[in-house]
Parts: sequence; C-alpha cells; structure tokens
Amino acid sequence: MAQEAHVTQGPLTTEAGAPVSDNQNSETAGVGGPVLVQDQLLLEKLAHFNRERIPERVVHARGAGAYGTFKVTADVTPYTRAAFLSEVGKETEVFLRFSTVAGNLGAADAVRDPRGFAVKFYTEEGNYDLVGNNTPVFFIKDAIKFPDFIHTQKRDPYTGSQEADNVWDFWSLSPESTHQVTWLHGDRGIPASYRHMDGFGSHTYQWNNEAGEAFWVKYHFKTDQGIKNLTAEEAEILAGKDPDSHQRDLREAIERGDYPSWTVGVQIMPVAEAATYRFNPFDLTKVWPHADYPIHWFGKMELNRNPENIFAEVEQSIFSPAHFVPGIGPSPDKMLQGRLFAYGDAHRYRVGINADHLPVNRPHATEARTHSRDGYLYDGRHKGAKNYEPNSFGGPHQTDRALWQPVAVTGVTGETVAPVHTEDNDFVQAGNLYRLMTEDEKERLVANLAGGISQVSREDIVERAINNFRQADPDFGKRLEAAVQALRG
Ligand code: HEM
Repeated sequence: MAQEAHVTQGPLTTEAGAPVSDNQNSETAGVGGPVLVQDQLLLEKLAHFNRERIPERVVHARGAGAYGTFKVTADVTPYTRAAFLSEVGKETEVFLRFSTVAGNLGAADAVRDPRGFAVKFYTEEGNYDLVGNNTPVFFIKDAIKFPDFIHTQKRDPYTGSQEADNVWDFWSLSPESTHQVTWLHGDRGIPASYRHMDGFGSHTYQWNNEAGEAFWVKYHFKTDQGIKNLTAEEAEILAGKDPDSHQRDLREAIERGDYPSWTVGVQIMPVAEAATYRFNPFDLTKVWPHADYPIHWFGKMELNRNPENIFAEVEQSIFSPAHFVPGIGPSPDKMLQGRLFAYGDAHRYRVGINADHLPVNRPHATEARTHSRDGYLYDGRHKGAKNYEPNSFGGPHQTDRALWQPVAVTGVTGETVAPVHTEDNDFVQAGNLYRLMTEDEKERLVANLAGGISQVSREDIVERAINNFRQADPDFGKRLEAAVQALRG
C-alpha cells in the first residue's frame, strides 16, 4: 500500500484522552468473574463500534473517489461567466466519486448497471457539482417515477432478491426506458473499470454569459484511457473473484502515477432553438445527435490523489445537482427539477445537517458564509458572529445577481407530460442506436437482453418487453423474440 499509516506518539487513550492501561483484557470482579460496568473503555469501544455505519446511499451506494484537477483548454467565456472557466490554463481542484447504481455498499463492481460519475469542482465561487452517469440518457423522464423505478432495481420485499419480473415489468410498462435499456445491454453496459468509460452530465443545463445571454448545454467527459468493456461472461467471473475490481483499479492506477484523465466538452444549443428542435431538449431519455450540436471541447480533468480515509472522504461525500455557481443553472427538465430537491434531502438524512462542513464537502477555494447555525456536530466555526441578515454589524450580504438567467414559461399548472417535439417518440433513438451497431454488437446486445427477459415468469411481461424493442426496429424485435424463445424452450 502506498498510503502511509497514520502514526501518533504516546500512549493509547480513551476518546476523552485518558491513558489506557490494558486494551486486551476487560475488567472483571475477581479473576474469571463477571465484567464490571466501570470498565468504561470496554463500553466506549462497543458503543462506538455499534455506531460506525451511517445509512448507505439509497442508490449509488457502492463507489470509489479520487481528487484531481480540472484545467480549461479552450475559451468558453462567450457562453458562461463561471469564474473557474474564465481563462484558458486555469486550474480547479476536483473530487470525483464513481459508483454503481443498484447494488448495496458491499456489492461487486463488475455488474451490468450504469456507473455514477459525480464531479465536485471546488471553485472560487463555491462548489459546483455535476452529478452524472456514464450514460448520456436515463430510463425515465419524470422524477415522480424514480422511487418506483429504483424499487424494481433493488430487492423484492418478499424474496429479498432482485427479480427479473419486477425489472422487466417496470421497463416494459415504461416504454421511454427502451433507449437506455438498449444502451445498458450493449457493449458499454459493463465497463472494464471506472477509468475506461466516458462520463455525461446527461441532463440539459443552462450556461449564461456576462452579457446575460443563456445557452442550453450537455456535458461530455471522454476518457483518455480509451473505452474498455467486459463481456457478460468476463464480468461474471471478475465479480466473483474480485468484487472490488473497479475500486482497486482506480486506487492502484493513481498510486503508481498512472493518472486517469478525461477530455471535457459541451454541446451548446442557443436558447431560441429549443422550442423547435426535433427532439424535446429537456427529455432525459434523448440525446442531441452530434450532427445537430457538435461537442465543444474545453477542458481536461485528471485524477491524481487518492483519499486517505474512505469513510471520511468517500462515504461522507455529498454531491447535489442543486450546487450551482454563477453562470451555470438548471433547465426545465422534469427529472432534473426533482433531483434539485432529492439530493440535499438525502444528505441531511444520511450525513446530517452539517454535512457541508466536512473537509471533502466544504468549499476549498472560498468559504461558505451563511447565517445558518447549530445542529448536530456543529463545530462553532462562526464563533460570535451575528446569525441574521440584514444586520448593522457587517458580515455577508446578498449580491443582487442571480446565478442563472430567468426562463420564460407559459400555460396553466397541471400534471402534464413533457412536450413532444416533431421527431419524438419513445423508440426512435433506441432504433437509431441499434442500427448504428455492427452485426457482432447486435448479436451480443440481443443475447444480453434475452438473458434477462427469459428469466421473467409471466408471458404478458415478456411479450410487452419484446414489443418495445420491436417498435424501435422490427429486426431488433424479431431477433430478440427468437433469442428469448430459444432460451425459454
Ligand atoms: C429524479 C431522478 C433521481 C433521483 C430522485 C435521484 C436521487 C438520488 C439520491 C437520493 C441519491 C443518493 C444521494 C446521497 O445519499 O448522497 C443519488 C445518488 C446519485 N445519483 Fe441520483 N437520482 C435521480 C436520477 C439520477 C440521474 C438521472 C443521474 C445521472 C445522470 C443520477 C446520478 C447519481 C449519482 C452519480 C449519484 C451518486 C452521487 C455520489 O457519488 O455521492 N441520478 N440519486
């Protein structure tokens, strides 16, 4: 291990700092007698141990993180006034946490599942979090469906296992998932490591410049290591042999100085083009084809430092899509809007109200100046400063400049589906993805999907699932039907 052990001088102590005389034998009433309540070291150790865990993330529980640097390589000031992007050559510290989605904290890494790609930029205007995945799209397009979706990916309340019935029931009843499900069962569905995959912001976000002009953008992180994937068979073996394969690979690469990097870019859509674009630009189940909006490459991100303590820096790290900085903001994507609430709420529950004060989470290039105070594990950082505003004693005050530009809206309130643009439907981009694949890729895709669908116990769910792929492309549906029939006999 490259990491040096933390060595302290002097005797072992209790949490309160008193020297410990014996850390091997608890105190008893006479030799061989019962243990005494006055052995405070024993009680303290057992009590502390019982409280070592915090709730794991309800999704993306299993992950690995590393620190690094983001460097601007091309001018993007015509599009955003974000200070960390203001100059070519400018560097910003980052922390990135990769993850799988469905598995629990102890699950294996080499599984077919999207990978989380959450980046925290420690900018001089506060922390900017981009909480993305290794896939450009997602299964659903409305946050109200997220808890149901995740329930189908997690353990069944009766069997206690992930069930193909639940997974395919939900996907087949949510045809908008067809694009992402096709992506997930293709070659990129099981990356060889966290280093060998791309990252995406996935959602559409707003950039806005000094002049107050707004743009819609989609982020891309292209791996400089090259894409490498595992086949279903390779993954099955690796998951059993080395459940920590991704985590180990990342740590060891950084330890040997083989720093992974990504080239960072955005697709940029002028705001005026959004209403008439052929796809709804705020629909997370769709990409913007690069022929429509090419990628502007503007940065390089390198990971070069491992965390020293996994619990403190990875388990307690928090990322929120609501952590914006001036020049960057949300879009009306309904999924994103739901996420703007969900993450802060998760952090308050999982890590606590002062989670932002922890070293990995607090701003590194500026300081947080708020009037919020107290709560569990408050460290007294504000000392005697006034805790209200406006006040007559100096202290932080508002800037009167919004982080992002206002967005025009019309209509009445209601439970509405996302607007459908001219070429939109649930299948068109899944079909395009299928038709882009080579014959070999198509074969593996169909085999992977058939492997999952064939485990479903009910014919109606099987037929509905196949029908979604049939609508994406008739050949896709025909091959899948044959493959499923062959497996089900
Ligand atoms: C409405 C839809 C969604 C909801 C409600 C939601 C909710 C959550 C919650 C509650 C967590 C755990 C946070 C924590 O405990 O710290 C989480 C983690 C995460 N989510 Fe989502 N999520 C949604 C969609 C997405 C999408 C579309 C992406 C990617 C494009 C994504 C990427 C991630 C990542 C990368 C993490 C792990 C962050 C980390 O490393 O700490 N999620 N999500």
